Amino acid sequence: MTSQHLINLNTLTYNELDGLIKLAGEIKRHPARYIDACHGKVLATLFYEPSTRTQMSFQTAMLRLGGKVIGFDNPQTSSVAKGESLKDTVRVVSGYSDIIVIRHPLAGSARAASFFSKVPIINAGDGGHFHPTQTLTDLVTLKEEKGRITNLCIGLCGDLMNGRTVHSLISAMCSLEGNSFVLISTKQLSVPSYIKDMLNAAGAKYIEMNSLEEAMPMLDVLYMTRIQRERFGSDEEYERQKGVFVLDAKKMKRAKQDLRVLHPLPRVDEITVDVDDDPRAVYFEQTEYGMYARMALILEMTDNAVRTIKGAPKQTHATPCSNPHCITNTELYLPKLYREKYGIMTCRYCDERILER
Ligand code: NCD
Repeated sequence: MTSQHLINLNTLTYNELDGLIKLAGEIKRHPARYIDACHGKVLATLFYEPSTRTQMSFQTAMLRLGGKVIGFDNPQTSSVAKGESLKDTVRVVSGYSDIIVIRHPLAGSARAASFFSKVPIINAGDGGHFHPTQTLTDLVTLKEEKGRITNLCIGLCGDLMNGRTVHSLISAMCSLEGNSFVLISTKQLSVPSYIKDMLNAAGAKYIEMNSLEEAMPMLDVLYMTRIQRERFGSDEEYERQKGVFVLDAKKMKRAKQDLRVLHPLPRVDEITVDVDDDPRAVYFEQTEYGMYARMALILEMTDNAVRTIKGAPKQTHATPCSNPHCITNTELYLPKLYREKYGIMTCRYCDERILER
């Protein structure tokens, strides 16, 4: 891979992405060929937020490649509880490991971490922003289950505002040939403006709807998501949004015979259990594809990795980022970095528009 770190999948070339998807399939079919591929290497997991699948699939992936694993899944048992900055933690851990996987509640945290690490950083979820390894998992699932990742009509349903898996999936798929999107959500939970800007810049077709039932017959893929309770300002706000979209066996009757239903999991109440036995529901298979996807990624990223700390850029912008969930508003030593994207000024960490004050 050309870039040392993985912040989002859209920094990969098509050939790099295709290579990873093919390698994941190859590992699935011939796991024995890879049992020593990472012998002597160490993967560190820094999880500042809860996780089951992402963390365990990364750990299993490294163990199945013959490597070893260190890390924390509760920052309160690490020096973070004593007030250590992200910068210092990452710098230290990068001296102990060959690759770091980080999950953090603030948007832009993985990019920030990449400035201070000697070894490759993998973004395993930065707040409500991006989650590229879930997307790689989703793409491997689509390749294996539908035979392609192009020319698909993809419905995304639920919390499109806060769902980082949704943002990464759209950003990776909108530039692939012939894909179109049906965005099913309430008005309040529709995709953020930077995702719409991305769809428009790619020239991808999309429509917004508020009825899952009506959307069902058009879809080749349905990507269900949980309402992200932890990203809401209050419980009342969450209560208003939960339970609006529920996929059940009755709605599945309206769908194509070759539909595939994906969900990054965990599920709360947005898919009833009577859908689980429908052969079109592949969300449990998806979790296993995630392990092969991460094995492929670890292999590619540790191969000939350069061990250098790039450091944070020296220049900084005077205006703070207006997104309160951006890492720059908490880790104050970080330079404020903005870039022009599609003629709009955005934050380099969290991609939100910069509102000049
Ligand atoms: C997702 C996440 O953490 O963003 N889970 C996962 O990694 N499989 C989805 C979610 O929490 O809803």
